[in-house]
Amino acid sequence: MHLTPQDRLFVLTGAGVSAESGLATFRGSGGLWNGHRVEEVATPEAWQADPSFVWRFYSARRRNALAAQPNPAHLALARIEQHLTQNDPTCFYLCTQNVDDLHERAGSRRIHHMHGSLFESRCVRCDQPFPDRAFYETATLPTCRDCGSLIRPHIVWFGEIPLDMDDIYAELARATTLLVVGTSGSVYPAAGLVDIARKHHICTIYVGPEEPSNAASFNQIILGTAAQTLPAIFDLPSQ
Ligand code: OAD
Ligand code: ZN
Repeated sequence: MHLTPQDRLFVLTGAGVSAESGLATFRGSGGLWNGHRVEEVATPEAWQADPSFVWRFYSARRRNALAAQPNPAHLALARIEQHLTQNDPTCFYLCTQNVDDLHERAGSRRIHHMHGSLFESRCVRCDQPFPDRAFYETATLPTCRDCGSLIRPHIVWFGEIPLDMDDIYAELARATTLLVVGTSGSVYPAAGLVDIARKHHICTIYVGPEEPSNAASFNQIILGTAAQTLPAIFDLPSQ
């Protein structure tokens, strides 16, 4: 596929883009944590019932993400951004459902974490996210210095609204191509972005080893892993 200087690329990534870095996806094999489905841990109800259980889950995910390295798919997306944004930094936008920081570590710049970030936390009352790489694996939980309330992961749980959806919709409306990578197409509103793109007559491409639930909405499906497919998906000049 060819990208011209007139193209504006919107990329949506899911857990599959980090699979080849060794981070488990949510659905399918390896997608469980201590026998629990993610829907049982990543909810406001789970937090109300047992915040230390939830913090143990996210502490384990922090450990795994810190130990992981970006793979060729993350690196390819950073290179595509570099190529497309030589004249206009807004020609590329990466919206990720992932909470790891592998896109940033690969060099991506215009990136939005719609489901929050693993390495940020916030007070349940003051609501201001701050950087946090600590592990909370004992019964003593972190509390806010200002008000004493509990500190929670800065993650969008099931039943909560993803971050900055208006910005996401505005970026999508300006795009010429939507590239979706490694997401099962089962969690909304992310899974609905392809339908919005089609209404705007944007070309829509999916990359992953199996068809997502919303496969019928895409113009093109490329079956293959992210790390195998993305480095050569666009014919960019070699560096
Ligand atoms: P899922 O676990 O639902 O789906 C992962 C997708 O990645 C599947 O469609 C796989 O086929 C695909 N996949 C597996 N290996 C791959 C590879 N090597 N290359 C490319 N694709 C591969 O993960 P998400 O769709 O990201 O939300 O899940 C969406 C949201 O549900 C997550 O952001 C998370 C979760 O609950 C929150 O935490 C709020
Ligand atoms: Zn507070």
